[in-house]
Amino acid sequence: MGNKPALSAQELEDLLNLEDFSPVYRRANQVRQEAVGDTVHLRALLEFSNVCRRNCAYCGLRAARTQVERYRMTPEEIVDTALAAHRAGYRTLVMQSGEDPWYTPELLGQIVREIKEKTDLAITLSCGEMPREDYAHLRACGADRYLLKHETADPALYAALHPDGTLEARLRCLRDLKELGYETGGGFMVGLPGQTVKTLAQDLLTLAAIPCDMAGMGPFLPHPDTPLRDAAPGSTERTKRCVALARLLLPKANLPATTALGVRSAGEKSDVFSCGANVVMLKVTPTRYKRKYEIYPAPLADTHIVEQRRTLEEQVRALGRVPC
Ligand code: 5AD
Ligand code: SF4
Repeated sequence: MGNKPALSAQELEDLLNLEDFSPVYRRANQVRQEAVGDTVHLRALLEFSNVCRRNCAYCGLRAARTQVERYRMTPEEIVDTALAAHRAGYRTLVMQSGEDPWYTPELLGQIVREIKEKTDLAITLSCGEMPREDYAHLRACGADRYLLKHETADPALYAALHPDGTLEARLRCLRDLKELGYETGGGFMVGLPGQTVKTLAQDLLTLAAIPCDMAGMGPFLPHPDTPLRDAAPGSTERTKRCVALARLLLPKANLPATTALGVRSAGEKSDVFSCGANVVMLKVTPTRYKRKYEIYPAPLADTHIVEQRRTLEEQVRALGRVPC
């Protein structure tokens, strides 16, 4: 699949292990500037359901957590929020949920269609694994992009963390999405217990093999009510190194400064824009639902979506970049 990646597994491992990574950061920043320019894309993130049938070991929304107050936004609420995000200036809406079969492909497709009829928003779906024909249906309804992280490229670690799935099935979904013409987003967590530098090199090569148009990399954050509660959080430095190397492997990709990175430190989140990142997502989920979408513990801003976007635009400009 695809062309030979610009860096081999061994080269990636050696780079990840460097004492002084600053030359690689500089190179990644330069490649970002040449390949995708100074624009930072602001994306609206709507978490429309926190119901999930899966039991990923790291996630606060896992089905086994009975303490979570579950919610499902109605199609009307979803469309209204999409319109509000559009009015606030967003050009892309990311619709994210757990794997929630209540939203059948038909229903999701109708929602996507309605938003596409009423706005010129690009729509990114992030709703987990589905059969190819469902992805095809949603694409036909107007979905432009799909986010589905592979989480870890180590098949044994993947199996240990995901009682309901296999790495192979996950990669099959990513290939289907790509073939169906979606702009395809992958990604992985950095610092999962049991992960090594070898795994991270494979994670990066997996992004290149698809090849992903977008890739989100964030540090693993232990959630206190999951089986991984006692594991150490992932390193932000290592996460930034992965973003920089992803930029070298995929010069034109959209690489977000992930929310998880901002949880560890707000400074790191803005810093990653000089390490190759060019995208940031903002939650537009209504406040009454937002606090219930707790994948990992994180502080929440309670600002209005227009105001929130303005603040972020200012922050992006302060970095010498152009919000869009
Ligand atoms: N720490 C960091 N990221 C997490 N995700 C899920 N749980 C955690 C966690 N504990 C990420 C996964 C998933 C996305 C929705 O959130 O990468 O794809
Ligand atoms: Fe569900 Fe996604 Fe959480 Fe896994 S990571 S339990 S699929 S919401």
